[in-house]
Amino acid sequence: MMTTTATTEISHAVTEFLQREQRLLIDGEWLPAQTGATFATLNPATGKPLCYVAAGDAADVDAAVAAAQRALSAWAATPPAQRERLLHRFADLMETHKEELAQLETLDNGKPFRVAYNVEINVAIGQMRYYAGWPTKLTGETYAVSSPGFHVYTRREPVGVCAAITPWNYSLVMAAQKIGPALAAGNTLVLKPAEQTPLTALRLGELALEAGIPPGVLNVVTGFGHTAGAALSHHPGVAKVAFTGSTEVGKAIQRAAAETIKRVSLELGGKSPLILFDDVEDLDAAAEAALWAIFSNSGQNCVAGSRLFVQAGIYDAVLERLATRAQQLVVGPGLEASTDLGPLISAEQLARVQRYIEIGRRSGATLVIGGERLGGRLADGYFLAPTIFAHVADNAAIACEEIFGPVLSVFRFEDEEEVIARANALPFGLAAGVWTQNLSRAHRMAARLKAGVVWINTYDWFDPAAPFGGMGESGLGRELGRQVMDAYTELKTVWVKVE
Ligand code: NAI
Ligand code: MG
Repeated sequence: MMTTTATTEISHAVTEFLQREQRLLIDGEWLPAQTGATFATLNPATGKPLCYVAAGDAADVDAAVAAAQRALSAWAATPPAQRERLLHRFADLMETHKEELAQLETLDNGKPFRVAYNVEINVAIGQMRYYAGWPTKLTGETYAVSSPGFHVYTRREPVGVCAAITPWNYSLVMAAQKIGPALAAGNTLVLKPAEQTPLTALRLGELALEAGIPPGVLNVVTGFGHTAGAALSHHPGVAKVAFTGSTEVGKAIQRAAAETIKRVSLELGGKSPLILFDDVEDLDAAAEAALWAIFSNSGQNCVAGSRLFVQAGIYDAVLERLATRAQQLVVGPGLEASTDLGPLISAEQLARVQRYIEIGRRSGATLVIGGERLGGRLADGYFLAPTIFAHVADNAAIACEEIFGPVLSVFRFEDEEEVIARANALPFGLAAGVWTQNLSRAHRMAARLKAGVVWINTYDWFDPAAPFGGMGESGLGRELGRQVMDAYTELKTVWVKVE
């Protein structure tokens, strides 16, 4: 339960979990890395180790892929209704252990417990339930071919052994988003969570076993990207890689996948425009949406509305409201109830974001608010003040590159044509937001913006039933919705001579 005290008390289950050295889940067994190596996962609010985790490497990936291959045919042949029951049981256990999973995520990632508990774990459970419904609904089709005497139909079959390589910003959601459809379609999976946040993936592995999902169907290999991640994306036994993370690593994964023509789905970075027209009905609501579009999860969000375009007539008013509201946001440890923004994930990420802030200052942009690392009682963690730049040149690095931190660039625009051109000018195409009361303009903008998802008079909404993914360098393929089931299945066409 959400506590009424100011600070969330860590549950006994979480304390006990953190006292154990965490191992790899391979074939239903918990194994140390074959090299014996471990690494510490840190609490970004304190910079101190939380727990030691096995550093899986190529040999462990081999073992996990072999286990997934052995488990494949029985899992694929498990009656759909039985796969559904098991996935629902898994979702039920996630629900039972909701508080524990949310606490682990807050400790490992830093995000406010309020958000982990009220949003992230619920989204992950909702996704698992949605995918749990799919096994009995996967169908092929029959075709009206013109050659006489044939019955032609398609079958949807599992792709095979899949690999999921996930980032640290929404570890629970990213894991559920890939485990759910992979298993629903009858595939087996090796999950490699981000090295910064391996804990909830390991706990999910335990819950999957407890739910009765057979050994080898879900394997979890913790480790680093250049070792475990690279081994998975090159492995000839892996038929599909589902990746969420940086565009740079996404390109490396696609190159590796080419060696054996693996299926790949990539959810990559963005620099998403949020566009406020001066006819917005409620300026406060629009400014508040713009505030959270960038600052939620401390800006570590693939769909972060990091480029805010404001029409000239309301520019000053919006900027003033944003600065006032940003100043009111409470930056602090995720376990404190009053916290709006937790720390950044790591010292590296903090340094990277600070570097961008420095580049922004030197570029001639106006630093409206923020920009500094927080000291005092927060000095050991990776806390950064919410930061807003105005008068940013369109071609400045802070206007073009994904910062992945609480840094907003605000731009003034005059008209629709101009803002479309500026919004579409980057190689990214993940998300976009438009605020206007003009219905025709809303639909025109939705049609013309280069983005896999466009939010009108809202921002950052997701539902498991609605597809999500990026255009251009923001990704390949779609997750969520029924579309993701295509990505986790092969289509086989069968011709039967009927005489
Ligand atoms: P990353 O892309 O390096 O890490 C994401 C995942 O990929 C992790 O599990 C990592 O271990 C794995 N990985 C890393 N190198 C790999 C390789 N060569 N082969 C296979 N797997 C590999 O992201 P990182 O370094 O944590 O963050 C750097 C930047 O990436 C961020 O500042 C942000 O701009 C972007 N990013 C975007 C995310 C998104 O949701 N779009 C999520 C995380 C990071
Ligand atoms: Mg951590």
